[in-house]
Amino acid sequence: MTDRYAVVGNPVAHSLSPRIHAAFAANTGEDIEYGRLEAPVDGFVRTATTFFAEGGRGLNVTLPFKLDAWRWVDAHDAAAAASGAVNTIVLDGDRHRGCNSDGIGLVRDLTDRLGWELDGARTLVLGAGGAVQGVLGPLLDAGCAGLTIANRTREKASALAARFGVAASSLDDVGTGWDVVINGTSAGLAGVGGLVPQQAVDGSRCYDLFYALDAPTPFCEWARENDARAVSDGLGMLVEQAAEAFRLWRGVHPDTAGVAESLRNAAPP
Ligand code: ATR
Repeated sequence: MTDRYAVVGNPVAHSLSPRIHAAFAANTGEDIEYGRLEAPVDGFVRTATTFFAEGGRGLNVTLPFKLDAWRWVDAHDAAAAASGAVNTIVLDGDRHRGCNSDGIGLVRDLTDRLGWELDGARTLVLGAGGAVQGVLGPLLDAGCAGLTIANRTREKASALAARFGVAASSLDDVGTGWDVVINGTSAGLAGVGGLVPQQAVDGSRCYDLFYALDAPTPFCEWARENDARAVSDGLGMLVEQAAEAFRLWRGVHPDTAGVAESLRNAAPP
């Protein structure tokens, strides 16, 4: 029988995960079906419980449920435990194991696809919300040096920095000379121009944890205009975190080459 998986979120209609997992199923020959589940904002537990009771084999979890999922599962893998967020649920017998593949996905995209050296790279991370929490541990494991978290609300940066034993800063005082700058703030078009001083990205490799299929994200556009050495949005991270989830469920790591590009090429003009 075909094993059923899904992504649960709200909203979830535009999630690319079903297309990514369909590509993985095709290139590995695994017999899976992968759908979307929109849960009411207060209904994660009900939706997840029903999905597994009806024979579902695993879930991806997206906004705003990563914390609800962390609380609901029976056990955590090391990445989920360190980050306090769950984006993948694996069924172990009748127990639900909460995992977090976001950070591994980011590091694989940065190193394997983009070829950015992280070992010893001076790294600045903008933002201190859930997206950032999920990636700090794997960035440190990959050897990022002098890692500094800068956030609009300085106390949140300090609290998170203390948890991970790294430095904190205000956005307007981040200094210069960063090898890698990672945006995890949700500042949109209006906010991104003044997010950090231009000198912070001059000559740096800049990565946005967010992505857009049809145009550069505001952060990517701003970084390029301000002399970043290289720029990428987070579409590749989305693909790599999905690949790691697929491996956790099926025991086989799918080939990710070209998947992000095919999603972008298939986007409506
Ligand atoms: P997520 O879980 O997606 O990371 P979040 O927890 O709401 O979302 O965090 C959003 C991040 O974007 C925060 O770091 C937030 O800064 P504050 O902690 O000061 O709220 C940051 N952010 C959102 N809008 C911003 C803006 N206009 N300028 C700077 N930072 C912004």
